[in-house]
Amino acid sequence: VAAAILVDDPADPRLGDYIGLTDAALRHRLETTDGVFIAEGDLAIRALVASPFPVRSVLVTAARHRALIDVLEPLGSPVYVGEPELLRAVVGFDLHRGAVAAAGRLPLAPAAELVSGARLVLVVEAVNDHENLGALFRNAAAFGVEAVLLSPTCADPLYRRSVRVSLGHVLGVPFTRLPDWPAGLGALRAGGFTVVALSPRLPARSVDTLGPLAAADGGLVLMVGAEGPGLSAGALAQADHRVRVEMAPGVDSLNVATAAAVALHRAARLGVAGPATAAPARS
Ligand SMILES: C[S@@+](CC[C@H](N)C(=O)[O-])C[C@H]1O[C@@H](n2cnc3c(N)ncnc32)[C@H](O)[C@@H]1O
Repeated sequence: VAAAILVDDPADPRLGDYIGLTDAALRHRLETTDGVFIAEGDLAIRALVASPFPVRSVLVTAARHRALIDVLEPLGSPVYVGEPELLRAVVGFDLHRGAVAAAGRLPLAPAAELVSGARLVLVVEAVNDHENLGALFRNAAAFGVEAVLLSPTCADPLYRRSVRVSLGHVLGVPFTRLPDWPAGLGALRAGGFTVVALSPRLPARSVDTLGPLAAADGGLVLMVGAEGPGLSAGALAQADHRVRVEMAPGVDSLNVATAAAVALHRAARLGVAGPATAAPARS
């Protein structure tokens, strides 16, 4: 059991993992060279402690320390406690949540290993908005997705805003990159998966047609694209089927995480996978 360490100097080198959290260029440098990422807020910190990712340290106000005491006390990593002003000076903005943790990244598993035995997989192409990515992971956890595969140009799901918006679920749903893009989708099909592209446009068929697809022997892969361009022609060409969530006339499309939620909910109801039971316990 590690005792909490009181800190009052924003230049304390032990707080180096937390500096300049809003400085994207600085964070990119730090996070790629040191392999560190940041989880912010009680839910994400609880999810982190329950995940395989190694916790490097935690920085909290006294109030958040009390609220998180059940997970912080048994933690073998340093827990730094400071005034809200100290946290603000270190991270560079008003950290309302009063709690951040720094953790180490883990090597990504090969896609084939991650999807082995899975019934429901989510593939994400080129989504570079961290909040959409976080929302996709939250939905993936909610509807029992067993693996998320990201195209090479997808944003970093462990970026702070993505971890926060996912409510920490990005730390619980296994993910990896599919480097061979889009040809790697063919390998999934060869492995018995039915690959279904979500597309708002014709000739995509109604999402109601997921029923017979979900009943197929292998697992189901649902694939979504980015705001703006949507799925690339190459990715669409690799799909066995295209389905759309019908919308009122004049509406171009749904937000990517919303569209994924509708289709994943449908797939989960069809028994492809069950809603996950492991969720962060409380807010
Ligand atoms: C904002 S949409 C992209 C819109 C883009 N103009 C297009 O035509 O695909 C982002 C992603 O969300 C999914 N999506 C959005 N609305 C959808 C709908 N109504 N039905 C199925 N998928 C949808 C698709 O995977 C799409 O690539």
